[in-house]
Amino acid sequence: MTDRWVRLQLAVDAFDEERFDAYVRKCRAEGITLTTLAAVGDTPGHRRALYELNKECAADIPERGEFFPFDEYVERRFGTPSYDPRGIVIAQDGDTWIGMAATSRHDGFAFNEMTGVRAGYRGRGISVAMKTFGMGFVRLCGVPEVRTLHHPANVSAIAMNRAMGYVDATWTDL
Ligand SMILES: CC(C)(COP(=O)(O)OP(=O)(O)OC[C@H]1O[C@@H](n2cnc3c(N)ncnc32)[C@H](O)[C@@H]1OP(=O)(O)O)[C@@H](O)C(=O)NCCC(=O)NCCS
Repeated sequence: MTDRWVRLQLAVDAFDEERFDAYVRKCRAEGITLTTLAAVGDTPGHRRALYELNKECAADIPERGEFFPFDEYVERRFGTPSYDPRGIVIAQDGDTWIGMAATSRHDGFAFNEMTGVRAGYRGRGISVAMKTFGMGFVRLCGVPEVRTLHHPANVSAIAMNRAMGYVDATWTDL
């Protein structure tokens, strides 16, 4: 794994909600539902569905390597104080889960853990729509900024975040 992570941050007040809400409306117009794990139910079955989706999308992260076994994923994703099911945005096409954007809550900031869209649905603005929808959770947290970090070769994820207004971070401790 690299030690040269690309660290990015977005000031909540600087986020252009009105502009990016157009992505949310576009998704809905195309029949894609945006919801959260809290809304659909944080059940064992839904945790398994999130795991399968996360695992599939994570396979495209540069140098990601083998994905966690389910039990380890449950512990890492759901077993920490920073976890809140309201921060897990899910995009659905009918009954199929096609995208996720997971954000956790920390002291003074929110953190975008994992954003992923199934390969057949990419390039339609779904990740931007999910992250815009997820700003509702960030505001609920009452924190001034959102942070994220990416492998330097993850061009699509870095470009997606920069398109939303994320800038190079001033923090280095994650
Ligand atoms: C990164 C990822 C979530 C993007 O999802 P997506 O729904 O296809 O992205 P969007 O359609 O919302 O794209 C939004 C913007 O991101 C940028 N972008 C997206 N894919 C890109 C690519 N392949 N190359 C360059 N820029 C890209 C563009 O600026 C794009 O805006 P535009 O279409 O107006 O030019 C998706 O590629 C993915 O699931 N990758 C694998 C998992 C991963 O690496 N996640 C990030 C680590 S947590």
